[in-house]
Amino acid sequence: MDEPSPLWPATLHHFQFNSENPQALVEFYEQGLGLSVREAGHDLWLVEGAERRFFIGRGRNETVAYSAFAMDDPIRLEALQRRLSDAGVTIEASPSPLFGNASFSVTDPDGQRLVFGVPPESARKGRDTLPGRLQHIVFATTDLDRIVAFYEQILGFAVSDRVVDENDRLTAVFFRSDEEHHTYAAFKSDGARFDHVALETSGWTDIRDWGDHFGSLRVPLWWGPGRHGPGNNLFFMVRDPDGNRVEISAELEIMPYDMAARTWPHEEHTLNMWGQAWMRS
Ligand SMILES: [Fe+2]
Repeated sequence: MDEPSPLWPATLHHFQFNSENPQALVEFYEQGLGLSVREAGHDLWLVEGAERRFFIGRGRNETVAYSAFAMDDPIRLEALQRRLSDAGVTIEASPSPLFGNASFSVTDPDGQRLVFGVPPESARKGRDTLPGRLQHIVFATTDLDRIVAFYEQILGFAVSDRVVDENDRLTAVFFRSDEEHHTYAAFKSDGARFDHVALETSGWTDIRDWGDHFGSLRVPLWWGPGRHGPGNNLFFMVRDPDGNRVEISAELEIMPYDMAARTWPHEEHTLNMWGQAWMRS
């Protein structure tokens, strides 16, 4: 493999959900994920814990305004901006108040906005009520080849796994920007849309504890528990009042930069080795 892109390593740091009823989402996440709430502007709330944070703003339901990836080195951030500029990608100001001046944003081929920046030293060092680090975000798309061209070739994510149908056409691709199996993934579907966001926990017993927690709130599990083939992670998903899917995950696979991507067949067993799967196509 080539030298890593200046992107490497980067982690998903925060994002913004839009909602026509943002207050209902704020209340759901305050309880459901044990987050504290802070007003961050007009019709904008920051919900945050020690290892998970995101904004909730007013806008069209089930849309994400942007996804923000954290880098730890301003020199690499500058190099990434140069790499993108040289590739003809339009660089815009960051819409996020959480990263410093050097942060910037770009738009992917589906119009989804990505922010890159170096976060300030966080003042928050406390423990979350239950473990769960904001870890990956996933979108559906009609054109996976175009997504691969942008995320792998231009941004420099490494492809970890591909899922292909019987005609060898891509139906899902998992991309990593550090040694965790994916920080971003895309599924082929009939439209471009938000798919899900995931919190990575410290182990299987956390899946049990989160299940008990959502049970006590009368929030039913929507899919799972199960184990994904790509990423080998244990998981379940719940839905918020708008229908946005949140995944609780454990044991996500570690893949060094130079480990080759693998290919899986498009079938339920790939997406859930324990049984039924949510098939986007
Ligand atoms: Fe996931």
